Amino acid sequence: CGIIGVVLSRCGVLGKPLGSVLRDCLKRLEYRGYDSVGFALIGCGGGIVVRKSRGMIDAVSEKLGFDFYDGYIGIGHTRWATHGAPSDVNAHPHTDCFNRLGVVHNGIIENYRELKEYLVDRGHRFVSDTDTEVIPHLIEEFKRNGYRPYEAFKKAVELLRGTYAIIAIDVDEPDKIFFARNTSPLIIGFGDGMNFIASDIPAFLEYTRRVLVLNDGEAGYITSSFVRVERIVDANGGRMWVEVDFSRRVRVIGWSAEMASKGGYRHYMLKEIHEQPYAVSMTLSSLSENIEYIDSVVKLIAKADRVIITGAGTSFHAGYIAALLLNRYADIFVLPIISSEAMWWMNSVGEKDIVIAISQSGETIDTLKAVREARRRGALTIAISNVLDSTIPRESDIALYTNAGPEIGVAATKTFTAQVVLLSYLAINVARYRNTLRESEAIEYINSLKNLPTQIRNVLNIYEARIASIANEIRDKQNAFFLGRGLGLPLSMEGALKLKEIAYIHAEAYPAGESKHGPIALVEEGFPTIFTIASSVEGELIRSNIEEMKARGSMTIAVYPKNLEDIEKLVRISIKMPIANDFTVGALYIVPHQLLAYYTSVKRGFDPDKPRNLAKTVTVF
Ligand code: G6P
Repeated sequence: CGIIGVVLSRCGVLGKPLGSVLRDCLKRLEYRGYDSVGFALIGCGGGIVVRKSRGMIDAVSEKLGFDFYDGYIGIGHTRWATHGAPSDVNAHPHTDCFNRLGVVHNGIIENYRELKEYLVDRGHRFVSDTDTEVIPHLIEEFKRNGYRPYEAFKKAVELLRGTYAIIAIDVDEPDKIFFARNTSPLIIGFGDGMNFIASDIPAFLEYTRRVLVLNDGEAGYITSSFVRVERIVDANGGRMWVEVDFSRRVRVIGWSAEMASKGGYRHYMLKEIHEQPYAVSMTLSSLSENIEYIDSVVKLIAKADRVIITGAGTSFHAGYIAALLLNRYADIFVLPIISSEAMWWMNSVGEKDIVIAISQSGETIDTLKAVREARRRGALTIAISNVLDSTIPRESDIALYTNAGPEIGVAATKTFTAQVVLLSYLAINVARYRNTLRESEAIEYINSLKNLPTQIRNVLNIYEARIASIANEIRDKQNAFFLGRGLGLPLSMEGALKLKEIAYIHAEAYPAGESKHGPIALVEEGFPTIFTIASSVEGELIRSNIEEMKARGSMTIAVYPKNLEDIEKLVRISIKMPIANDFTVGALYIVPHQLLAYYTSVKRGFDPDKPRNLAKTVTVF
């Protein structure tokens, strides 16, 4: 879910009603969920207004007239349902019995059932099926017992178990937005005569770039001119809240509002596909700017007994590529594991092992949990993320950043290429350090990474129109196989994920050699099979798999290096790519897959930036 809170010195200072401000901020958080949306604000006349409904932000804003509501303090929420189906009553904000409070929440309150029972016994009336609704009622309960609103808020937070980012407004203390964070991200933005709080920086980037990333366990409030942060400490046999000095944690971030907007493209996803040359350059220049630090990380990996690489979704696929590269070039045993499964593989992990956790957002809870488990077992943890100071890098021993700029489209594109480039750079240098790669070869490979931005730009120029027309061939299909061997397999997995998540075509990736052990039974006339061939080595083996599929009437498509000339005659549709080496093929050959998924989605009439049922940042198990 996405959260925004805005507090201004007075109504109207931003030149538009607060309802419109909240809507526009929420639009930039829409990638975090969009099954329902709502806001609560304190109007210029004093009372609290709550407007919320099931549906996407623009439609709900239009229906409920967000633009007509002004105020000086407000909170908003765009939801990705966990507890309680998407519906008008389950939409946030939630309120207390007397409508004096508005509360929005991201995360899961694990003990909400017992809290709800307790509150119902005390006469509170609940209207939704959400876990969140216990929060305003708890605050109300403490207020009934004589606590001031902010104190009541903290008392309520003390009782919550689970993950949460919470913000709240209360007409009885109407200059403050209260907040509390545990695991789910919350970031404060310091403006001029106004302050912001949100689950991600792009939400308020238009107004300020001075930010404070809150830590787990912190709570406090913001006014238009003041921020207070507190945390609980054990003292004198009890627990008490103490003030936190955050002055040294405030940072000015380098992104601009322009970077987080569509910049003339029809969708964020298309913009981000086209930004890949720039993203890769940014990743490479940040690596060379931090060369000594990177060298020290390389040495640590080179000395590890074993390496586990973990991540979810697209980040896992980047990790899979890195695992193959480290195995093949640096002779290290590396196991790629999907992060939600990692806990089942950690039993023998110990001090000599390294766990590399990849997460563009730095917030995926399964990946965070894998990091925590690895640390508990004494392994060294290395995080690779795109978001500065996000939770996973902060909780890992070492943090490396891809610096690809903000990614808004739910389907990851430029962060994937940036991850692959960063990991390739590490793999080349680990192999160099372990003397499993000759110095001259290592230099050649590093130089080939430097050529990637130009190569990706060329691929985009040459293929975009052609792939858009290939999308016509598969737009009416129900299913597709993506087959590959070696490095072609993680690329197939990523291609299938993209097509599945934004075009809603059931796409399955398989090792090409395994396709005859089951999947081929599904193939009939016109069934699309997309082969990704990374090099001539895999090409040798994959030809027979192509023949097998063709013999069953499959519509065969191949993404392959142009020197494998005979593939063109073998397949129905050929996407002949520039020849790449093992370190560049990941970032280069994924581009036609991204474009194919994008254009298929658009031609099927979907919005690729907002795939149904998905959220970009998943902070629940
Ligand atoms: C979600 C997104 C995927 C993403 C995955 C991992 O499922 O829909 O696109 O790859 O999370 O996200 P992370 O931020 O950890 O890379």
